[in-house]
Formats: sequence, C-alpha cells, structure tokens
Amino acid sequence: MPTRVAQPGRLVENASNIAKKSTTMAESGTVVDRGLEGIIVASTQLSNVEGAEGRLTYRGYDIHDLAPNATFEEVAYLMLFGQLPNAPQLEDFKVRLAAHRALPAPLVEFMQTLPKTAWPMDVLRTTVSALAHFIPQQSDGTHASNPDSAINLIAKTPTIVAAWDRIRRDLTAIEPRHDLSAAANFLYMRTGEVPIIEAERALDMYLVLLVDHSYNASTFAARVCASTRSDIYACATAAVATLEGDLHGGAPSKVMTMLLEIGTPDRAEQYVRDLLGQGEKIMGMGHREYKKRDPRAEHLEAMAKQLGEKSDPRWYEIARSLEDASNRVLHELKPGKRIYANVEFYTAPAMSSPVCSRAAGWRAGRHTSWSSSPTIGSSVRRQPIPAPR
Ligand code: COA
Repeated sequence: MPTRVAQPGRLVENASNIAKKSTTMAESGTVVDRGLEGIIVASTQLSNVEGAEGRLTYRGYDIHDLAPNATFEEVAYLMLFGQLPNAPQLEDFKVRLAAHRALPAPLVEFMQTLPKTAWPMDVLRTTVSALAHFIPQQSDGTHASNPDSAINLIAKTPTIVAAWDRIRRDLTAIEPRHDLSAAANFLYMRTGEVPIIEAERALDMYLVLLVDHSYNASTFAARVCASTRSDIYACATAAVATLEGDLHGGAPSKVMTMLLEIGTPDRAEQYVRDLLGQGEKIMGMGHREYKKRDPRAEHLEAMAKQLGEKSDPRWYEIARSLEDASNRVLHELKPGKRIYANVEFYTAPAMSSPVCSRAAGWRAGRHTSWSSSPTIGSSVRRQPIPAPR
C-alpha cells in the first residue's frame, strides 16, 4: 500500500495572502445589550409579566384568580383556544388529553436502554425529541403544529417523566389512566396509587402557576425555533434543553440541595453568608423581571406550609428561614437592590413534600406554553428569524 506523505499546512505557505480585514466586536468596543434586557422582540397573547407591579396574567386573567379557582386543564384550554372552557368544552378537552396520554411502546423500550443514572431532564429532552419519530410526518418531513399536536405533547410529557422516574428505580412503567385529572394521573403513574386529594390539588395548582411566563428563556428558545419553521417537537426539544439549566428550571433541585445542607432553620443565615462569601448565588432568589416578590411564590409558599403540616414541616421551616436570611444579607451586601424569592424557591419544599411524592421533576405544565406558541402558529411562524448581533 503506498504510504501517504504528510503535507505541510497550507496556511504556512499562504500566510502572506491572509490578513485581518476587520476588528472583532470586542476590540471595537461595541455597546452590547446583555441578555436583550428590555428589548421587545415580539408580542404574545398568552401571558404578560408586569415586573414592577409583580403581576402575572394569562390571556388577561390574573394568576391570583386562576391559581385557587381554575384547574390545569381549564388553564391549558385557555392558553390553546383563547377563552376559558364551558362545561361541555372542558369535558371534551379532558377526553382528548386522556386519549393521548399513552406512549408508543418502542419509546418506553428505548427509555429502558438508557443508563439509570441519566438526569431526568436530559431524558425528557431526548424522549420529547424521539417522540417525533412516532408521529406521522407531512409530505415535507415535518410534523403538523396544530392544537392536536399540542394536546399530544401536553398529554404525553407527564407520562414520559413518570415512566423514567420508575425505570430509573428498576420499576415497570405504569400505563396512564383515562379517568383521572392530569395531576392525579401523573402521581398515579409514579406510585401506582391514586393520590389523596391534597396532593392532587397541590400539583394541579403548581401546574397552573407554571403554565407560561411571557418571554422566559425556554419559551423564547421555542419561538426562535418556530421562526425557522421547525416543527412543534423540535420547538419543544429546544425549550426543554433551555429549561434544564440551573439558572432557569433547574433551580428547584438546587434549592432542595441547600435546604438539605442547611438542615435546621437556625443555620440558614450562616449558610447564606458562607455561600455569598464564595461568590455563589442563592438559588430561588432574584428574577430578571420582577422587582417585587414573584406572585407565584405566595401560592407556592402557602402550599409548602400546608403540605408540610400534613407530613414533615421541616422543609418549609428551613425555606422560610432561608428566605428571611437571604433578604437580610443580600440587602446588607447590595443595599440599592431588592432581591426576592422567585417561583422556584418554594417549589422545592412544596413539590418535595412526601405528600406530593417528590413531583418536582414534572415541568410539563410549561409544555402548554411551548406548544401553544408554535400552534398559535401562523403568527409565530411568520415572525422573522431573530438576527441579534
Ligand atoms: N444570589 C446572589 N446574588 C444575586 C442573586 C442571587 N440569587 N440574584 C441576583 N443577584 C445579584 C446579581 O448578581 C447582581 O449583582 P451585581 O449588581 O453585583 O452584578 C444583583 O444581585 C442584581 O441582580 P439583578 O439584575 O436583579 O438580577 P439578574 O438579572 O442579574 O439575575 C437571575 C437574575 C434570575 C439570573 C439571578 O437572580 C439568579 O441567578 N438567581 C438564582 C437562580 C434562580 O433562582 N433562577 C430561577 C429564576 S426564575
């Protein structure tokens, strides 16, 4: 076999033909809008965050009215179809959601081949993407982005999370039930037992609170994806990938780690001082938009307290003490800034409560908004591809 003689790099020979033609943006001192702060890139009908007032509305309805009075299914309908459902519309929507809950068997078999150590959000990202392969394609190779595909995603996501929760624990995935609410069915698929009403209500309210949040990072990622005419499964995959970071949806598990490390309420202040002294952030505190306490934190705090009283009050008590200590110390270190608890802070003690069967992994409520955005579709898909510099 002829031997191949290594050639000298072409750049070495041609270096005199290649010269820098421009300064880099960094060298030219270009003024940068870090994080697109305050830049309006599009409008949305789905939700509105009024950070200065601490108000969140879904299609004009205040979250403080929806959280105690509406179910996840009612709010999902509102997001998808623009109005709260009447009784027959709600019944029909629940039947459609329930009919889409089961996963294709090969998808569950695929999940069984994954390493048991795989992180749940990683598995959700991979499996949402893989789900697309089991959905009939259109003639151009994409999948329809319409209310049916949105309902399919909203219905199947909890089944994926619950199945992985069992598979990773060497248990068999449980088939969904059609007669339970989304919240109750999720808890059933994880434990095999129909949950007590308090757990169902708590998870249901949690889902309502998490349904949408204007141009949060994961929804923005989904909309950037939709603007290139990627389909709804691609958009959802981009959104899950964005959500899983620590500074976005990954925060509750970090909050839980802090609660575990603190151990007792009296140790919270020293813990906060040590953490900030190391240049770390207090997870679950601070928000890009709210300049007051996140309105969702109020409901989640009440939920964490109530669930704690039914099982183990420790986690709520440590969280309460941690919020107070963080407020005190951050105010001392950054006198001009007020940094308040965000939605993720009390999600940790609320959803980690044994009553809720450690449901913190289910971020599927947000699928409603990711799915609604590309579905409301034509306007989002006609949106120009963002071209930030
Ligand atoms: N712990 C410690 N310091 C914090 C902080 C926190 N949780 N949140 C904000 N700060 C600091 C910022 O670093 C900044 O300091 P600087 O002025 O010295 O640069 C100052 O407080 C003001 O920050 P602000 O502009 O109000 O917030 P932001 O837009 O820079 O950051 C977050 C927003 C959400 C990224 C940030 O608060 C954070 O990382 N929080 C923890 C992660 C989290 O809970 N994420 C879920 C969000 S829903």
